[in-house]
Amino acid sequence: MNATISLTPLIYRPDYEKIQDDEGDTLKELVETLQEISDITSKDYGRAVRSVHAKPHGLIRGKLTIKRDLPDFLKQGIFASEGIYPAIMRFSTSPGDIMHDSVSTPRGIAIKLMGVEGERLTGEPTSRTQDFLMVNGPAFLKPDAKSFVPGLKLLAKTTDKAEGLKRVFSAVLRGTERLIERLGGESPTIKSLGGHPQTNILGETFFTQVPLLYGKYMAKFSLVPIAPELTALKDAPLEAGKENGIREAVSAFFKTHTAKWELRAQLCTNIETMPIEDASVVWPEVESPYIAVATLEATPQVSWDDATFPQIEDRLTFSPWNGVQDHRPLGSVMRARRHVYQSSSNFRKQFNGCPMTEINALEEV
Ligand code: HEM
Repeated sequence: MNATISLTPLIYRPDYEKIQDDEGDTLKELVETLQEISDITSKDYGRAVRSVHAKPHGLIRGKLTIKRDLPDFLKQGIFASEGIYPAIMRFSTSPGDIMHDSVSTPRGIAIKLMGVEGERLTGEPTSRTQDFLMVNGPAFLKPDAKSFVPGLKLLAKTTDKAEGLKRVFSAVLRGTERLIERLGGESPTIKSLGGHPQTNILGETFFTQVPLLYGKYMAKFSLVPIAPELTALKDAPLEAGKENGIREAVSAFFKTHTAKWELRAQLCTNIETMPIEDASVVWPEVESPYIAVATLEATPQVSWDDATFPQIEDRLTFSPWNGVQDHRPLGSVMRARRHVYQSSSNFRKQFNGCPMTEINALEEV
């Protein structure tokens, strides 16, 4: 079906990106604020965890198969030719502290493909990976990295302090969210603050929210559940009151089921309605739909084990800047992420005494 789709994507031009004069200052503030979170949580846990997206809900091994029938304009970057890439995925929730699942927050998935050839983005010539990081909403909360700083500072101030408070807060917000949904709209601000309904993470659709190069074009990506066993979990409520309810639900699924998602790309066809620098704009699907470019599959497996998986996830670093030049991250939010992920990950690895090198093959995991 894809072969019949016709679009006229825009070819990337450097002037679509507008670097602000104070991006260096913003980066400094982001790094310092994230470090504040890491300092608090590493003291509390005696172990360093990610400064955001700290709580894991599963580490899944799978494979990504590039679609065979792609039209020419979609044959770009790693999608240029047929291929199967081994993949590791990590499900998470967004806060930097590890909270009871009754505090429901936005969810993320990080995907690392292995065995990817091509010119690297960062000077790590031995890496053969391509990462995609996504959360369960189509656009970022703020237009750029600078406007994200105040919210992050607020998060840093509440780190570890008041889980009880956050739980009450979250319950209140969930009520508010339902109210807003009844009125016909969703509120990303409320979701990011902890008002996400408590549902099974495996029913979610995930988005990169911000664009990357797609070979000579520009695109955002989504990951959409397509196996009936997954689509049945859309908005499926979780048993209330469980500390690790999300992780348990993921483990229960992978005991017997196979998961299958589609990786879809939305190409930029109009720089006015699909801007590169304003991360808060949802690119209109009527102008350019998300089109399937690959399938991601994971067969039954152990998705979490308290004894060994924490060490494995310590060694893993996912970043939109782990990858090839053909999928270079674009725009203010992406530029800021280049250094903050490295800095959070370096702190974790140093604190926990882990090797600093990138994992390149599933056997290393
Ligand atoms: C300026 C904006 C952002 C900042 C400062 C930021 C910062 C971070 C940091 C420091 C980490 C932990 C890195 C580590 O220790 O390995 C992280 C993880 C993560 N971020 Fe972001 N992020 C931003 C935007 C986004 C966006 C737009 C998305 C996706 C739509 C995203 C998705 C994720 C996910 C899924 C993880 C977990 C990765 C893992 O499982 O290891 N982030 N982020």
